[in-house]
Amino acid sequence: MSDTLARPMRFGSNSGQPLTRRDGIAKVTGAATFAGDNSPEGLLHAVFVPATIARGHVTYLDVESAERHPGVTCVLTPQNRPPLQGDPSAKPTMFSFRIEVLQDDTVRYAGQPIALVVGETLEAATEGARLLSPRYEVEPVRTSLDDNEAFGFEPAGFGLPAGAEHGDVEAGHAASAKSVDVTYETAAQYHNAMETHAVVASWDGDRLTLDMPSQALMMSCAGYANFFGIPPENVTLSSPYLGGGFGSKAFVTGPQVLAILAARMAGRPVKLMLTRQQMFGPVGHRGATRQRLRLGIDENAELTVIDHEGLAETSTFDDFVEPAANASQGLYAARALRSTHRAVRLDIGTPGPMRAPGEASGSAALECAIDELAELAGIDPLECRLRNYAETEPGTGRPYSSKALRECYSQGAARFGWADRPLEPRQVRDENGLLTGWGMGTAFFPAPMFAAEATATLRPDGTALVETSAADMGQGAWTALAQIAADSLGLPMDKLEFRAGHSSLPDGGIAGGSGHTATAGGALHAAGTDVVQQLGQIAAADPASPLHGAGNGRFVARESRIYLEGDDTRSEAFADIMARTGSAEITGSGSASRPPEDAERHAMSSHGAVFAEVKVDPELGQMRVTRLVGAFAAGRIINPRLAESQLMGGMIWGISFALHEEAKFDHRSGRIVNADFAGYHVPVNADVQGLEVITVHEDDPFVNALGIKGVGEIGVTGTVGAIGNAIRHATGRRIRRFPIRVEDLLAG
Ligand code: MOS
Repeated sequence: MSDTLARPMRFGSNSGQPLTRRDGIAKVTGAATFAGDNSPEGLLHAVFVPATIARGHVTYLDVESAERHPGVTCVLTPQNRPPLQGDPSAKPTMFSFRIEVLQDDTVRYAGQPIALVVGETLEAATEGARLLSPRYEVEPVRTSLDDNEAFGFEPAGFGLPAGAEHGDVEAGHAASAKSVDVTYETAAQYHNAMETHAVVASWDGDRLTLDMPSQALMMSCAGYANFFGIPPENVTLSSPYLGGGFGSKAFVTGPQVLAILAARMAGRPVKLMLTRQQMFGPVGHRGATRQRLRLGIDENAELTVIDHEGLAETSTFDDFVEPAANASQGLYAARALRSTHRAVRLDIGTPGPMRAPGEASGSAALECAIDELAELAGIDPLECRLRNYAETEPGTGRPYSSKALRECYSQGAARFGWADRPLEPRQVRDENGLLTGWGMGTAFFPAPMFAAEATATLRPDGTALVETSAADMGQGAWTALAQIAADSLGLPMDKLEFRAGHSSLPDGGIAGGSGHTATAGGALHAAGTDVVQQLGQIAAADPASPLHGAGNGRFVARESRIYLEGDDTRSEAFADIMARTGSAEITGSGSASRPPEDAERHAMSSHGAVFAEVKVDPELGQMRVTRLVGAFAAGRIINPRLAESQLMGGMIWGISFALHEEAKFDHRSGRIVNADFAGYHVPVNADVQGLEVITVHEDDPFVNALGIKGVGEIGVTGTVGAIGNAIRHATGRRIRRFPIRVEDLLAG
């Protein structure tokens, strides 16, 4: 069997540089235009009315009063909503959600749009929405995991996670010398990107133009086209900047469809921008979970079994189930492994993928349960993990494409000073009497690759244009991807023009799954390489070129020159070749995806180790994460500054998950009582103290041609458990529910 080891790429001088964001100045000066900044001629404003009950029916809307308001153009309700071509209750693509677009008077969750008001101004539309004064027939609500029967599902599919089982689980339980049987809970979290969801929609006949943030432009175009019965190419989507996405801007959701519908009815462009409060419901969230972990170890503290049962919430009308238990499949070398999932239908908006879906919630529970085992075994938590280090993928036995997790453990531990950790909890107080504890967790996230296309055009003036549609979510893709493209063309960054974030460009795939740099980067690299080969062939055919006759060779480019690969004495400047041969622009194209056989042969993941220090006030229960050190191995790092920023952002989300973030339901009304930034806590600067990221060198010849894994999501994983474990170590209290609250520490 020959490995399809792609040609190892020689990198130019741009990759590996800690360049600042190319769009940084535009963003801080306000020059960058986000979707909601667009105000085309004749613009109308739309405001939707969110249901204030979670289950029942809308019995009355004062449409007359709203319509009488002088600034109101039209009011959309289930009574007058024109039909859509595509069925919103169906799933037009594999990656679709069923959406709420005023199908009927039924309310399925608090925050569901029950009407849309369009006005000449935002104020008029807002006032019109208020005048609707809805009345309801209210039914009893179910918003807690205990409020409904759990159900299993088969077969698995998008949103319905397959479980997995390897080895003899019952034998694993029977063989354990010590075991834990613990249940962890994680709270519901809602995507709260800085930029809330927004759309500006305009129709011209059967052509639709959208300004809208999208993590997956072509999928968005296809989704909206489906609802309006037009071909996807009739949809033009512009998404130059996203103010964060985190998974919620990857899918078609209801509010945008309503705004597009309103634009069609009104015959004028319509803008809809969700308020912060409206983000809590119709555009996805990370579902709450309850996870039972039954783990056993033998006398050597080697795992005999990991048995992970996930229970997660989903809506009454769709099926996304947080794949939390799958986090146990990839990490430790247990003799037997089982992950199962069940769901509970609740009167909530449908959950969806949110930064590190599955792994964030699953590893929070797993990393704490491992800590509990280490304590039972009387060994250091890091030692416990090393004894169970997976040299090959647990269960499948597949080799890893690369795995520098040992180095992550050792570099992170050294940096943190882990060796000085007392084994017993509640041993250390700082100079102010605060209980001080240290905990750790393993970080882990798959390294997927999707499909993308790109083009590159070299111009006679020595500049190049590269194009691919996938948008920069705010993470810096526009910079890192440009570095890859510039290197493939052998150009400095200032000679490169990079267009992205528009549906007219080649399909850049999905900015998600931590796979954007690998995927779009692969396509850009291929496109640049195509240009270089074409130019090399032109030179090889030209008797006046030093490359003449080298047409059977391969060419590489650096510093605006073409070289014959392996022979640095034969080269020529781009400009000279193009000038002499009279070449106009040279355009190349490229695509990237992972061949299925590559995906079969190796397990591919990023890994890391996170070490946390917390300080806890023994009287008040107040908690602070005073130090976090994360060491991550994620293949080739294209831009260390941006990669570290991504990893840091993930770790900060880990702090958020562990101590802050929670959508609080009033289970009587089914409403989220903290649906705004006053009540929905996320860490502020004061909550983030010492934070250090180490990127561990890792060469991966198998993951893809560029050796890139991903850094977007892994930082959340590992961190949550590390903090939970540090709180245990500080206080002697084991809290099995995230976020950990002051009252949890004060109780009992
Ligand atoms: Mo992400 S949850 O892959 O945008």
